[in-house]
Amino acid sequence: MARITAGLSTSHVPAMGVAWDSGQQDSQYWAPVFAGYEWTKKWIAEEDPDVIILVYNDHASAFSLEMIPTFAIGCADDFPIADEGWGPRPVPPVVGAPELACHLAQSLILDEFDMTIVNKMDVDHGLSVPLSMVYGSPDSWPAKVIPLAVNVVQYPPPTGERCYQLGVALRRAVQAFDQDLNVQVWGTGGMSHQLQGARAGLINQEFDSRFLDNMSQDVHALRAITHLEYLRESGSEGIEMVMWLIMRGALGDAVEELHRHYHVPASNTAVGHLVLRPTS
Ligand code: DHB
Ligand code: FE
Repeated sequence: MARITAGLSTSHVPAMGVAWDSGQQDSQYWAPVFAGYEWTKKWIAEEDPDVIILVYNDHASAFSLEMIPTFAIGCADDFPIADEGWGPRPVPPVVGAPELACHLAQSLILDEFDMTIVNKMDVDHGLSVPLSMVYGSPDSWPAKVIPLAVNVVQYPPPTGERCYQLGVALRRAVQAFDQDLNVQVWGTGGMSHQLQGARAGLINQEFDSRFLDNMSQDVHALRAITHLEYLRESGSEGIEMVMWLIMRGALGDAVEELHRHYHVPASNTAVGHLVLRPTS
């Protein structure tokens, strides 16, 4: 049986990828951002997951405004790195896990989550920056990746509660797969940020800190956050945080926080990162 052994969340700020790729690891600005992932790099080498279900959002790279799936699951053999305007990031291509992905698609759809099945897709910084933060710069990514893309770009995004419930269904689906696989679920994006309009640059450290606490202490409070509250409290792009709730839903009722990192600022964003272990 496949099992979900851990959950991980992290911001996916594009500038973190640019800084990493251009060797700015030791710069005054970036060193404290990257320092929070040192623990994780050692941890992941020990955990060595077979597959990562990586929840992220496409930033108009694979999906334009012409087609906006609410939830999409990548079932391809591999996923090329997207060109976001300045050439693809110099990182290895992402290798998929089509057999498990197709099983998940079937299980989720029969469980009444209407997933879009994607058989060809480039993946952007939303997916590749978290891989770089956790694995550094390997020749090939040590784990297979199933991209799970969520629309948080164009109104209306799914609710936090719907995302949490998708995570719960994802847990059932993984546990019903009859291969012995070590699976992690990652949720990316956030934390509070606003890239546009009069409040551009907004960061709400109190909101972020409560969110980080409640991922392990009171997930019911997080499930109840409405679109309007995300907008008001965490800025127009803070809605990316609903993707963390898919990961959280996939871990079951109780979790233990193994690691936390929070740093302000990175580009326009508060960087947040958690590693969680299911305990129930
Ligand atoms: C920025 C962009 C993102 O897509 C994101 O998730 C966080 C920050 C930025 O440009 O600062
Ligand atoms: Fe983003």
